[in-house]
Amino acid sequence: MQLKINSPLDMHLHLRQDNMLKVVAPLSSKSFAGALVMPNTLPPVTTKEQVVAYKREITEAVDSDNFTSYMTLFFKNDYSYKFLEDIKDDILSIKLYPDGATTNSEGGVASFDIESLRETLEAMSDLNIPLNIHGETTGFVMDREAEFVPIYEQLATAFPNLKIIMEHITTKESAMALDRHKNLYATITLHHLFITLDDVAGGMLQPHLFCKPIAKRPEDREALLDLALNAHPKVMFGSDSAPHPKDKKEAPGCAAGVFTAPIALPLLAQLFEKHNKLENLQKFISDNAVKIYNIKPIDKEITLIKQSYTIPSKYNDIVPFMSNKRVEWKFK
Ligand code: NCD
Ligand code: ZN
Repeated sequence: MQLKINSPLDMHLHLRQDNMLKVVAPLSSKSFAGALVMPNTLPPVTTKEQVVAYKREITEAVDSDNFTSYMTLFFKNDYSYKFLEDIKDDILSIKLYPDGATTNSEGGVASFDIESLRETLEAMSDLNIPLNIHGETTGFVMDREAEFVPIYEQLATAFPNLKIIMEHITTKESAMALDRHKNLYATITLHHLFITLDDVAGGMLQPHLFCKPIAKRPEDREALLDLALNAHPKVMFGSDSAPHPKDKKEAPGCAAGVFTAPIALPLLAQLFEKHNKLENLQKFISDNAVKIYNIKPIDKEITLIKQSYTIPSKYNDIVPFMSNKRVEWKFK
């Protein structure tokens, strides 16, 4: 049995820098036609020169592979209309992090007071630059995303023509907000479709499943499955594949992030097949993103075959999601 996917896209990806980039970028370009590359590098991507240099570094790392890196900028509330107009053609969107919410997000937004964001968000709206948001408050860890939903709604109401993408949603509250505002969209990761908090901390602590936002309750995962498996038109795949070296994960003070890029497609095929929804995979993994972002990805057909194999224990010094476990599909 074979499965063909046209131009799969990963609309939330961490490619890192230097040696790590050289290891992980080819693993994404092997399975995807393109990806939205997150700007939380050190230092974060905040200028046109950095965007151009980072894109060149990625292109060199994927070598001859045909892969489009859609670039993002790290949101700052002092970006002017003129600055954004000048950088518009080099980026696809801008990623907003609350200050300190996750890996390398220091210098993000400290206050969601609409007036302090108005000038930049109005400019983005006028210039048709979508806004990606890591939506978590500084509240209790299990409640951070649900508490952020009113902020998503205030922003969606205040800037009705701004496309706002709720990144890596993990709760039923976020899933419900989607249909209340025409300008709210969402990405869903692979791991949040597979795990709940029980898998992370219900038995022996699993550092390779620790990420931000933390996996939630069974009913939250059900809400995400309902959106993804039915390819809700405002939802697209974004792996949030976030590699960290093994010694930064298996450590006191474990870094947040799950590395899924190399095995995302086979595991999604397995999941959609299990739920008899394989016919919706193409929309979730590509077509919805094409419409939401209004992009034309390169033609790239990826073929998976139904053949079981064992996920490697490591890619260099990075442990992937479901390492050493069997998966039922593999790349042809
Ligand atoms: C991401 C990372 O490591 O860059 N970590 C994570 O747990 N998802 C950042 C992010 O997207 O939150
Ligand atoms: Zn991320």
